[in-house]
Amino acid sequence: MPCQLPCQSGRVRTCLHRSDMHSLISILYVFTLLSTVVAHTICPSLPPCRCKREWSRPHITCTSIRNTVTLSALIPHARSESPWVTIVNSNISTLRPNAFGSLNVDKLEINASNVTNITKDAFLGLEDLRGLHLTDNMLNAVPAISLRPLINLEVLSLTGNRIVSITTEDVAPLVNLRYLSLSENVIEDIETGSFPVSLLQLGLDANRLETLNGALSDLVKLELLLLANNSFRTLNAHEFESLSALDTLNLADNVLEDVAGAFEGLPKLKFLFLTRNHIRSVEGVFNYVPSLNELNLRGNKLRRLKNLGNLPALKTLDLSDNQMEFIFVDAFENTPNVITLNLSSNLLEEFPDTALVPLNSLVTLDLSRNKLPSIDVTQLWLPTLKHLYLSGNMITTLPDNLFESFESLQELDVTHNLLTTLDMFHVLPLKKLHLHGNPFRCDLSTNQVLDNMSGRLDYRPLCTNGVLPTSQEKIN
Ligand SMILES: *[C@@H]1O[C@H](CO)[C@@H](O)[C@H](O)[C@H]1NC(C)=O
Ligand SMILES: *[C@@H]1O[C@H](CO)[C@@H](O)[C@H](O)[C@H]1NC(C)=O
Ligand SMILES: *[C@@H]1O[C@H](CO)[C@@H](O)[C@H](O)[C@H]1NC(C)=O
Ligand SMILES: *[C@@H]1O[C@H](CO)[C@@H](O)[C@H](O)[C@H]1NC(C)=O
Ligand SMILES: *[C@@H]1O[C@H](CO)[C@@H](O)[C@H](O)[C@H]1NC(C)=O
Ligand SMILES: *[C@@H]1O[C@H](CO)[C@@H](O)[C@H](O)[C@H]1NC(C)=O
Ligand SMILES: *[C@@H]1O[C@H](CO)[C@@H](O)[C@H](O)[C@H]1NC(C)=O
Repeated sequence: MPCQLPCQSGRVRTCLHRSDMHSLISILYVFTLLSTVVAHTICPSLPPCRCKREWSRPHITCTSIRNTVTLSALIPHARSESPWVTIVNSNISTLRPNAFGSLNVDKLEINASNVTNITKDAFLGLEDLRGLHLTDNMLNAVPAISLRPLINLEVLSLTGNRIVSITTEDVAPLVNLRYLSLSENVIEDIETGSFPVSLLQLGLDANRLETLNGALSDLVKLELLLLANNSFRTLNAHEFESLSALDTLNLADNVLEDVAGAFEGLPKLKFLFLTRNHIRSVEGVFNYVPSLNELNLRGNKLRRLKNLGNLPALKTLDLSDNQMEFIFVDAFENTPNVITLNLSSNLLEEFPDTALVPLNSLVTLDLSRNKLPSIDVTQLWLPTLKHLYLSGNMITTLPDNLFESFESLQELDVTHNLLTTLDMFHVLPLKKLHLHGNPFRCDLSTNQVLDNMSGRLDYRPLCTNGVLPTSQEKIN
């Protein structure tokens, strides 16, 4: 009978005693087994767990286990190796005292394993642990007392549990913590001072927060803050002021209406996501974020855009999917370095030519799905513009002087408009043309024109002789 045992020599011998074999063959078998064990100390196999070397250390993965006893067999090998241990899809509702013995483990993941109750001494002996993931379990509070011995912990994930609130007792004592995820819980409140100042990244997205009220002050090292998918309606002025190292702030998918003053005092903020909120006005909001590189306001309720603010570093600006009817002349006056501007899915009835004048680094302009009847570019010179997207408007003709305004243009998308003539396109020195979904009128020469352009067309447009191609309407 093959002896499927953990690679701990003591237990191997016990097993062979019981197997009642005393022949030379059995001795050879023992020898073979023991040498396997020795070889496996590099990566011990502990059925039902598997082991694989990763980043030059053993990584043990267990599924469908009901307790952590199996793992105690690791201890003799763990001394020198400090393995990673992953437990997934198991049923360990209680982590008992000393659940991992004195395993010298470096990273421990217990995901989707129905962990409900972590006893006070569960992690005793894991003082060297640097990463702990307890993702997708049933914890209804941070296991504060159990975490106390883990003084070297740098990474802690409690994503996907049922945690309701965070107090100063919970993680603040973990003074080496750098990455903390509390995403996908049901957190409603956070006591001020709940987080250690050592934090670099904090995930609080997908919770039930309505307000922060200074709970995050003092996190002077924090670089990444995820607050998406909560219930924030307003943010206090200066809410993030003490986060002087913050680089990325994600507030997408909240119900923010008023953000006045909220982003003051964020000297290093580069990425700000306000996607899918209820913001109606951003007037004066972005005057104190000098490093901002990317601003996403997609899916809000902006109607008009006045001076966006002093954003000299802004490169990517997404204003798509709002209700903008008008863009004032000064909208982009102080954002001269924007490279990508997305104004798609708004209600613009006029090509915002004068407002675009300051954008002399613009490469991509998306004005798809507006109500533009024409493109008036007489005032405009965008020497770096390469991609112009105008799909889903009401454009009937393109101006002759398009290339005087956009001398670097490489790609033009005018699909789903009201263009009737194709002739002008083949003289345009474009690399990519998107034309389908227009009621083109064709004559004898049209096929030749289309053939001429075929290398640059993604999709050969149909000639419908003035009738809107209904089959293509749907796409719009
Ligand atoms: C999980 O373990 C508990 C005991 O800790 C047991 O009552 C339950 O039936 C187990 N669930 C499954 C699906 O095996
Ligand atoms: C989770 O553990 C509880 C006992 O604490 C048990 O009743 C339940 O069946 C377990 N669920 C699963 C999916 O194993
Ligand atoms: C957690 O488990 C321990 C040990 O089994 C038990 O004494 C304690 O009552 C449990 N606590 C909860 C909250 O279920
Ligand atoms: C466990 O959860 C973490 C997220 O906290 C994830 O990065 C990791 O890939 C998960 N591991 C497994 C084996 O599912
Ligand atoms: C918010 O939650 C929805 C639904 O789970 C998800 O699709 C979306 O990506 C989340 N938003 C962010 C920014 O994570
Ligand atoms: C502009 O935003 C829309 C969504 O609102 C997106 O589908 C499109 O790809 C974006 N355009 C560019 C050029 O990134
Ligand atoms: C396409 O038309 C342009 C301009 O009339 C002409 O210079 C070029 O030779 C034509 N190319 C082909 C492949 O017919």
